[in-house]
Amino acid sequence: MIYLDNAATTRPSTSVLRSMSSFLEDCWQNPSSGYRASKRVSEAIEEARASVAQLIDAKPEEIYFTSGGTESNNMALFSVDSLLPAEAVMATSQIEHSAILRPLEQIEQNGRAVDFLPVDALGRLIVPDHFPYSFVSLMWANNETGVMQPIQEVVEKCRDASVAVHTDAVQVVGKQKISVRETPVDMLSLSGHKFNGVKGVGALYVRSGFRLQPYLYGGGQELGKRSGTENVAGIVAMGQAAKEAYERLETAPSEIMAMRDAFEQKVLELVPGVDVNGDLARRLPSHSHLSFCDCEAEGLVILLDEYGLQCSSGSACMTGKQQPSHVQTAMGYDVKRAKSSLRFSFSHLNTLEEALQAAALVQKAVTKLRSVQNTGTGPVVIYTP
Ligand SMILES: Cc1ncc(COP(=O)(O)O)c(C=O)c1O
Repeated sequence: MIYLDNAATTRPSTSVLRSMSSFLEDCWQNPSSGYRASKRVSEAIEEARASVAQLIDAKPEEIYFTSGGTESNNMALFSVDSLLPAEAVMATSQIEHSAILRPLEQIEQNGRAVDFLPVDALGRLIVPDHFPYSFVSLMWANNETGVMQPIQEVVEKCRDASVAVHTDAVQVVGKQKISVRETPVDMLSLSGHKFNGVKGVGALYVRSGFRLQPYLYGGGQELGKRSGTENVAGIVAMGQAAKEAYERLETAPSEIMAMRDAFEQKVLELVPGVDVNGDLARRLPSHSHLSFCDCEAEGLVILLDEYGLQCSSGSACMTGKQQPSHVQTAMGYDVKRAKSSLRFSFSHLNTLEEALQAAALVQKAVTKLRSVQNTGTGPVVIYTP
């Protein structure tokens, strides 16, 4: 099986699994207890905090552990909402992950004005001239297209206008070198399972001095901001994954890009009627987002899975939903194009050989699906507008 769905999740490395297992089998004590074994556990948490901080060029005390990207986003948004005066306006982009859009819709329902800013046809935010907001949340890179957003420009403009900025950097952290010193956002969300950690653990970076309201109340863990006995094994795994990702940052992005580009080139060579989506000059090296004319993406995913290739037709949490992707709708794609798009996402665990094999499997699946669609006899449900 060739795995090209690394934007959905990544495989934990053996060393990551080994690092966490000792905190399940041996060092399982509560990190807040008073004996020596507990001290070892709490030290491991702090070591992981330092590794995660290093990955984004932050200070360890600016990192709060959470249960993942979704919680980090919710924690950031609801904290800001609770601190802002009633008349203050929040803004985000129309292409955010649902872990930003749904909480902001909730905040809007509770009475706050929220602006959902448009993107262009290449999937990049149209940066407004003015920021009449108190707070902006903009993703660093989009999870479907991989298109990098103009976060630096937005941060600079927001700084001039005293607007606070949060970024959902879940797709970027561990895959691209980023620095919260060079791009001084106030808050940043990340998720361990996107860079070969395990699911159910993430972190929120909060710049020193930026106010954060407690999200979960209880025993006062995470400086009283996020109570609950820590997910020690998950945190240790994320720390180990962060260390390994940091070591790879110099070489992996260009190697991954070479695989992605070889795959794309081969697909374009082998398959007629393919469009490459998004801003090709400014996208993550891992992502390839392709539309296959006259092919229904859900059917392609099923067929490719049968042939030995795992990929997806959008974000994992949208799979099986009837509506076209909100990201492609915001980019101005019609329903037909949006419903014929697939995301292939690479990691350092893929090989060039796999990339080329995958392109051949794509050719086989598209040819089959198009012929089935033409005769109208196949088992695949075709979308009809
Ligand atoms: C951009 C983005 N934000 C947030 C999330 C949610 O992260 P988690 O799965 O850790 O809750 C994802 C996961 O797909 C994502 O891609």
